[in-house]
Amino acid sequence: MAPLDATAVAQPNIALVKYWGKRDTALNLPATGSISITLDGLRTRTRVRFSPDLGADSLTLNGAAAPEKLPRITAVLDLLRARAGMTLFAEVRSTNDFPTGAGLASSASAFAALVVAADAALGLGLSPERLSEFARRGSGSAARSVFGGFVEMSRGERPDGSDAVAAPLLAPAEWPLTVVVAVTSDAAKATSSGAGMELSRRTSPLYAAWTASSAAALAEARAAIERRDFAALADISEHSSTTMHAVMLSSRPALIYWNGATVECLHLIRYMRETSGVATFSTVDAGPQVKAVCLPENAARVADALRQVPGVLDVRTTGLGPGARLIDPLIDTGGAA
Ligand code: DP6
Repeated sequence: MAPLDATAVAQPNIALVKYWGKRDTALNLPATGSISITLDGLRTRTRVRFSPDLGADSLTLNGAAAPEKLPRITAVLDLLRARAGMTLFAEVRSTNDFPTGAGLASSASAFAALVVAADAALGLGLSPERLSEFARRGSGSAARSVFGGFVEMSRGERPDGSDAVAAPLLAPAEWPLTVVVAVTSDAAKATSSGAGMELSRRTSPLYAAWTASSAAALAEARAAIERRDFAALADISEHSSTTMHAVMLSSRPALIYWNGATVECLHLIRYMRETSGVATFSTVDAGPQVKAVCLPENAARVADALRQVPGVLDVRTTGLGPGARLIDPLIDTGGAA
């Protein structure tokens, strides 16, 4: 008998080689692969409870009903219900301990936690690879949060998307980098990643060059990770981030995810690296937050400097963390779900 009720925790990840564009929107297949690091410290905790007493799926996010986010959740639950041959509705209760929808990849941890909890609640026992595939249907970046540490997401070749899944490259302890997140806004972003990617694909004159350059960027980043070569990883990662933002900016109308403080942080991080030899580099997603990836011994200095930048509201420091996993809600009581 499936337990029908399970709780999982997942953390966001940050792409070093970015995903920005889809080759199939129905199956949510990425146009390119990507490489990310899964964070520790920022957590999404999700409880999924299937019951014959429910007349519809429901979603509670941080204690409030979130019907606008329900269709994507239901779409993923439908795939898992079909796999389990079951039709019960579910109550999904999720909490994030960081700003939602503002460039801290909340959809990544959300769908990774959802799939892991729903898999257990339905008694499916899916492999990590299949969990990654189902998480991808909810959000491309979520496929990566199924795993911890350094993770590579494959573009995949098969039309059904069964090989567009993530796989681990290094465990967190194998290269324990630190990430300093400078929060410059807590507002939800104006254009979702999915809508932004489609706009870029349709209108940016740089889009074709962006997707064509991905395989080389992935190979360079993979090699840097293998060698634990921070300078090389900094170089390719900053380039991937700024090139993605060039694609965003060259979309029509332009996607401008940065604010003034974002730009100040980017200058500061580069200045610290180039003039003071501090091992740090920046990366920015579809939002105004700046993430400074650092060698652990440099993180406090980078955090102190970012805190001084006008417009920086909050600075959070986190290491690398594990992939999505089940928890026992009676033992692990951190965050209410
Ligand atoms: C800029 O995974 O949020 O963070 O698949 O449409 O849900 P969907 O997109 P999403 O896009 C992430 C875009 C990015 C870069 C990255 O994480 O690789």
